[in-house]
Amino acid sequence: MGRKKITVVGAGNVGATTAFIAAGRDIGDIVLLDIVEGLAEGKALDMAESSGVFAFSGSVVGTTDWQRAAGSDIVIITSGMPRKPGMSRDDLLAKNTAIVKSVSEQVAQYCPDAFVIVVCNPLDAMVSVASKVTGFANNKVMGMAGALDSARFVHFIAKESGASVRDISGVLMGGHGDSMVPLPRFTTVAGVPITELISQEKIDELVERTRKGGIEIVNLLGYSAYYAPAAGAVKMAEAIVKDKKSLISCCAYCDAQYGVGGGFVGVPAVLGAGGVEKIVELNLTDAEKKAFDASASHVKALVAKVSDLL
Ligand code: NAI
Ligand code: 2OP
Repeated sequence: MGRKKITVVGAGNVGATTAFIAAGRDIGDIVLLDIVEGLAEGKALDMAESSGVFAFSGSVVGTTDWQRAAGSDIVIITSGMPRKPGMSRDDLLAKNTAIVKSVSEQVAQYCPDAFVIVVCNPLDAMVSVASKVTGFANNKVMGMAGALDSARFVHFIAKESGASVRDISGVLMGGHGDSMVPLPRFTTVAGVPITELISQEKIDELVERTRKGGIEIVNLLGYSAYYAPAAGAVKMAEAIVKDKKSLISCCAYCDAQYGVGGGFVGVPAVLGAGGVEKIVELNLTDAEKKAFDASASHVKALVAKVSDLL
């Protein structure tokens, strides 16, 4: 079996970093695509030259031409406007709907067999745009947010508890926004729920910091985060390319699961060669379920607005 072909759309902060991490981990041949002449080509050449240091064997090419992306196994869509201070992710709705729509049309034409990982915000709504416009099967379209948000949660827990990040696994549900639902009962240090290890008051603080993790970085940088988001996107792509059957919090299509009744929202899902192979249904408490339902309703309202824009 040859190397997989992974196209990253958008050669900005998230896209270029995604391509760089994916190339360095040697998970396939990378195509970096942007509309700005020279941008993807220049960054891709720079990355390809780093193979002389890191010794990865996959290629990295940059382009503005969708024909170079043809036949991709995975397309990661990062082309979209990021947040500026004072903006919510939802402010990005109209502009990014138009971008994700046009990109998804190209994906459907040039990469009809690809798995699609959407990163653009507002995340859950943009995943639904990619799904509608490509018409791809529900297991093939997903969004990266939970991988990032749970990574932030894990990082904060490691700092608080002194435990190794290697031992911590975090679970988080709901939309990628202020209503996201980190789940301390299912977040463990070497199998021990953090509720056994950290005081409730401290957990509440870490949950709140996780919910506001995006804006914390926007306020520091003046633009939005990209190292951890790119790492999250590569984690998902790698799970698919290597058929890892990894349980990853991500935005996936739920039918009856969690009572969603058809729609894309953040849930724990198993990712492997079949894309989203399974949604894992956790036994939620009433309070957790209520928080998830509120977040899912917010996502549904955004998706309804998006449908008017399509
Ligand atoms: P950026 O502005 O650095 O890069 C966006 C790139 O997309 C630009 O280079 C632009 O030329 C390109 N682009 C625009 N329209 C295009 C098109 N039709 N085809 C190809 N390329 C096109 O933005 P950044 O920081 O990389 O963020 C990208 C998106 O990811 C934003 O919407 C941001 O909100 C979102 N994001 C989502 C996260 C998540 O957890 N889901 C985390 C971080 C960012
Ligand atoms: C983040 O969470 C802005 O969605 C982006 O960093």
